[in-house]
Amino acid sequence: MINILVTGSNGQLGNELRKLASVSPAFKFVFTDIAELDITNPGAIQALIVSKKISVIINCAAYTAVDKAETDTELAYRINADAPGFLATAAYKFNILLVHISTDYVFSGEGFRPYTENISCDPRSTYGMSKLKGEIAVIDSGCRHIIIRTSWLYSAFGNNFIKTVRKYGRERGHLNMIYDQIGTPTHAADLAVAILAIIPQYTDQKNEIYHYSNEGVCSWYDFALEILDQSGIKCTVAPITTFEYPLPAVRPFYSVLNKSKIKHDFNIKIPHWKESLTRCLKELEQIERTAI
Ligand SMILES: NC(=O)c1ccc[n+]([C@@H]2O[C@H](COP(=O)([O-])OP(=O)(O)OC[C@H]3O[C@@H](n4cnc5c(N)ncnc54)[C@H](OP(=O)(O)O)[C@@H]3O)[C@@H](O)[C@H]2O)c1
Repeated sequence: MINILVTGSNGQLGNELRKLASVSPAFKFVFTDIAELDITNPGAIQALIVSKKISVIINCAAYTAVDKAETDTELAYRINADAPGFLATAAYKFNILLVHISTDYVFSGEGFRPYTENISCDPRSTYGMSKLKGEIAVIDSGCRHIIIRTSWLYSAFGNNFIKTVRKYGRERGHLNMIYDQIGTPTHAADLAVAILAIIPQYTDQKNEIYHYSNEGVCSWYDFALEILDQSGIKCTVAPITTFEYPLPAVRPFYSVLNKSKIKHDFNIKIPHWKESLTRCLKELEQIERTAI
């Protein structure tokens, strides 16, 4: 039995891992969020590892409010940069595996070919810089680790782009959507499945960074159109530029991730983003129906 500590488990990815717990008999999970384990507290991390005999940590905890991070810089760095270092130090001390989740925002977004793991990072936002520092802290600790960068994460849990589009699509009947930022959505449920498939295959040779998103490429405009179409919501959508919708944090214009390495090293099959969106919308509709 592998005892897995999941941090930040009330978030999107954490909740998807919770859903898999009942169908994953090889793993025993300890799900925590800030109330049970604040990852900025190194003593608490080490105490929990010992008391629960943890052999793997999946770090889903993060400061993900990208725009707020521009002014709430200290807390963003504490959670995204310092805390992964604390988890990594503990992982090193107790010789356990740390699976740490990172982001496409570590890149400049000025590329035009899918980003491979070895392309130099050049984050343009506080969030991106803090996440890059977190990656470096994990690597520098010398602990057993896998870092997975993902992009445009969504799920039926929490607040995200899908829910915003459906809500305002229904309420307003017209939306403006950015068409000059290109990336790939990722259903957190797919990433959760991939993480659990990777853990038993881990060896010390695989202390690496990997990229994971769904297959395919789109703009936020395309993504919104597909969400509305699949949801059967009648709403017009106007394509606008990034310049027409200024936000505090700089977004990458191009953040498509190349996933060849993770597919090759762990024999992972990745669904297309439209197919995964269909599954998520079905689940969301079921949740909405039971809430009525
Ligand atoms: N969302 C995206 O579009 C996206 C894209 C690329 C990469 N990622 C990365 O993917 C990972 C998972 O993202 P997600 O969307 O699942 O995040 P999420 O929904 O924001 O969940 C993060 C969880 O961590 C918790 N948390 C915050 N500070 C904590 C602390 N000090 N100790 C313990 N828990 C703490 C949060 O609680 P509160 O809600 O109370 O703060 C939240 O429950 C993150 O590493 C993120 O950077 C996300």
